[in-house]
Amino acid sequence: MSIRVATDADRDAIARICRLTGAAGQDATGVYGDDTVLADVYATPYLDGPDCFALVWDQGHGAVGYCVGTMDTEAFQAWFSDTWWPSVASTHAIVTEGDERLLRAATDRSRMLTPLTGEYPAHVHIDLLPEAQGRGAGRALIEAAVDLLRSHGVSGIHLGVDPANEGALAFYPKVGFSVVPDSGGAMFTRATEASAV
Ligand SMILES: CC(C)(COP(=O)(O)OP(=O)(O)OC[C@H]1O[C@@H](n2cnc3c(N)ncnc32)[C@H](O)[C@@H]1OP(=O)(O)O)[C@@H](O)C(=O)NCCC(=O)NCCS
Repeated sequence: MSIRVATDADRDAIARICRLTGAAGQDATGVYGDDTVLADVYATPYLDGPDCFALVWDQGHGAVGYCVGTMDTEAFQAWFSDTWWPSVASTHAIVTEGDERLLRAATDRSRMLTPLTGEYPAHVHIDLLPEAQGRGAGRALIEAAVDLLRSHGVSGIHLGVDPANEGALAFYPKVGFSVVPDSGGAMFTRATEASAV
């Protein structure tokens, strides 16, 4: 099995994967003033935050992909805004236009709060290095995340997709997600069919 639970030793690999896939699925190196900021918003906090999980795809040579997320988006948003972002914000300055957008999002205390969190309280981020794509790892990671959420009694997942990311827009419906009506095709949900625990 190539999926394992991430440890702190995977932090740098997870940040690197995030950077190399973070521009609508393509390499985001140079898009931001420093190349660590994207992971500080979208990837590494899930190694530390409340009710979080982090799975990696590793065929024996280190993590080449991940699915990270939280089972409780509202609790995660509060922790992100009150604890996580203040602990890293001073290391990130606005240098590029990309920084401006990203740092505005990072400081938005309502960024992750959507009415979807009632039925679909979890959210995830999934990214694989190019060499690991197109071989079933994405599907396997999503199924592992859904199994984990179901085992914790979490009823569903929601996630957002950059409308420019054609690969991701094609992927999610193939792995059980439905487009949220009126979301411009950019939000997806999947129920886990968990029984209440
Ligand atoms: C999107 C991503 C997670 C998909 O993972 P993957 O391992 O490449 O996908 P899989 O091989 O498991 O494919 C599962 C299904 O999705 C389809 N699919 C995956 N990527 C696709 C693409 N780019 N275009 C069309 N279909 C795609 C596959 O054809 C397959 O369908 P099938 O069951 O009918 O054969 C991965 O390609 C990736 O990390 N991309 C770059 C980062 C990214 O965009 N992350 C998502 C951000 S929202």
